[in-house]
Amino acid sequence: MENQLLAVRALVLIEARGLPIPEAVERVCGDRPREVRRSVQAFVYETIKHRNLLDELIRAGSEAEPERIRSPYVKQILRVGTLEMKLWGNPAPAVTDCMVRLAKRLAGERAGSFVNAVLRGVERVSVEEVLEDRPWTERLALRYGHPEWFVLYALDLFHGDRERVERLLRANNRVPPQYLRINRLRLDPLTGEEVLRREYGIVVEPTFLEEVKVLRRGRGYGSRAWREGLFDVQDLASACASAALSPEPGEVVLDVCAAPGSKTTHLAEQMRDEGTIVSVDVSERGLEVLRRRCRRLGITCVETLCRDARGLSVDDLPEVPDRILVDPPCSTTGVWNRNPDSRWKPKPLERFARREWSILEPALRIAEEHGCTLVYSTCSVSWEENEAIVRRALEEYDVRLVDAGVPGSPGLREFRGERFPGHDKVRRYWPFRHDTAGFFVAKLRGG
Ligand SMILES: C[S@@+](CC[C@H](N)C(=O)[O-])C[C@H]1O[C@@H](n2cnc3c(N)ncnc32)[C@H](O)[C@@H]1O
Repeated sequence: MENQLLAVRALVLIEARGLPIPEAVERVCGDRPREVRRSVQAFVYETIKHRNLLDELIRAGSEAEPERIRSPYVKQILRVGTLEMKLWGNPAPAVTDCMVRLAKRLAGERAGSFVNAVLRGVERVSVEEVLEDRPWTERLALRYGHPEWFVLYALDLFHGDRERVERLLRANNRVPPQYLRINRLRLDPLTGEEVLRREYGIVVEPTFLEEVKVLRRGRGYGSRAWREGLFDVQDLASACASAALSPEPGEVVLDVCAAPGSKTTHLAEQMRDEGTIVSVDVSERGLEVLRRRCRRLGITCVETLCRDARGLSVDDLPEVPDRILVDPPCSTTGVWNRNPDSRWKPKPLERFARREWSILEPALRIAEEHGCTLVYSTCSVSWEENEAIVRRALEEYDVRLVDAGVPGSPGLREFRGERFPGHDKVRRYWPFRHDTAGFFVAKLRGG
């Protein structure tokens, strides 16, 4: 019961208090053993992913409406119990008994009776019953734990190809591997694999980017080799954005929306720590993380500037940049594999796109006036935040699209009747194809 109790506490911190999943798990687990943490993580991630199906099962088996249950503990206890018995196939009477005891402990005697009544009802319904007679999109949304609007959206992204939609939803439920970006300042990417294996017991395999490896065995993040700055942890798709900018040693680079610094540090390594990177972000806390990261990796060429990037001009910068990276906050629809709670938050894509445009526009002005190379990237899979933004940049500014120059899939040529002629120059990364986050990268040249 201990693990379920911790999971319920973490779920309450996440849903009712808005804490990020890793922080909530960390807080409830404290220094408990690794097996406990793993079990709590499994409860938490699976309950969040399958929230819609769990709630449908609760509705089908009882009169209860999960969204209206006032006690945040009772709501999560019902979901965890339903997950255990209906999705994991654990014996129903034992699960119900455990959840009733939990409810009494966390929310009182009456809550225990309520949980008992609801879960006895849930015991009698089956997943297949709940799914049958529903339209295909709704069934898929429930089976793979996604909002239905996204299933419909993905169907348009893939021009009605149901198989690809299903592959994307399935991949969004699989945690991608950890990718280690070898720090060229400390380790040669070609011989690094052997050094990591021999001296640190870390087994990695190559990817299509020379400096990025996929972790196969051993500990990456937080390990001794990580602390010594031999590598950083960065998703392969994210590394493709910084690789696409490909700065040279001695250049001046402007990194807009730079915190927590995955791409800044990758750029610095490509520049062999020679030249200047101005890393701009509105979050001072985020920039502090970025500075710590630079120190760990032995990077000295980075200057930080804490400000809102909207309205940024060259006068705010120490020098005119040669290259610019813009990686604004987005809908994060590409990282639902790592952050499953994001899928249940509202995603007004047009509103995200307006914010992305307002951050990109000053950078476009600088690129246009000074002939800079500019890379625009997001971890979103939407059309509005990606191809549509780049198309507008090409229409309104004196910039041209150049090939992104990194491996990956082409962008979308067409979406809901709109067209994007430069689709083969930009790159998209799909969780089901590249085993990465969903990502978008476009490279422009000004003047
Ligand atoms: C997608 S994250 C950037 C990730 C970063 N490029 C990296 O590779 O680690 C977006 C960042 O934009 C910052 N941000 C949001 N609005 C901003 C604004 N108006 N001006 C500058 N930074 C902003 C956030 O603080 C956040 O750090």
